[in-house]
Amino acid sequence: MNIYLKKFIDEKFKKPGKALDLGAGEFFDVACLKQIGWKCEGVDIKTGIDLEKKYESKNKPFDLVYSNYVLHKLKNRKQLIQTIFNNLKDEGWFFIHIFDKSDKNSKSDLSRAYLKKMLIEQGFKNLKLKVFSFYDNDIGHKHWHKILEATGQK
Ligand SMILES: C[S@@+](CC[C@H](N)C(=O)[O-])C[C@H]1O[C@@H](n2cnc3c(N)ncnc32)[C@H](O)[C@@H]1O
Repeated sequence: MNIYLKKFIDEKFKKPGKALDLGAGEFFDVACLKQIGWKCEGVDIKTGIDLEKKYESKNKPFDLVYSNYVLHKLKNRKQLIQTIFNNLKDEGWFFIHIFDKSDKNSKSDLSRAYLKKMLIEQGFKNLKLKVFSFYDNDIGHKHWHKILEATGQK
């Protein structure tokens, strides 16, 4: 499981709740969350949900909405921020990872300042943004990424 997401959940939640994974990929984090007692829904373009467009889950509202390594791939980034907001409970937490543009291996043009502006405009509070490095050891990858992590509350 994404270790940063796990750490965030351990910090913010005393007991398992309901989570939504936006751009779930192979649904690995979804499976891991279910194993530790969460109810978790994952959506992805590969399963027919295009996050460039509005998405409201029939299972909303969620205690946690997260999206890892997806936002920088989208053209309509404001829509994903709105989708997080619209599916989240009042006081619920979100968690986003993106590849930061300062990494030479990243094609992202999404800056920390721009992400922060979008989150503030949407009305999120208790925002925390941090940048850190991560070594991607997967076959065919093997390089450093710079990750921008954003967390906050509705
Ligand atoms: C780098 S993978 C990350 C997967 C997973 N979140 C993880 O952390 O392992 C990016 C994912 O975003 C999905 N994706 C890209 N564009 C999308 C879109 N417009 N709507 C929904 N999912 C999209 C891809 O299909 C892929 O599964």
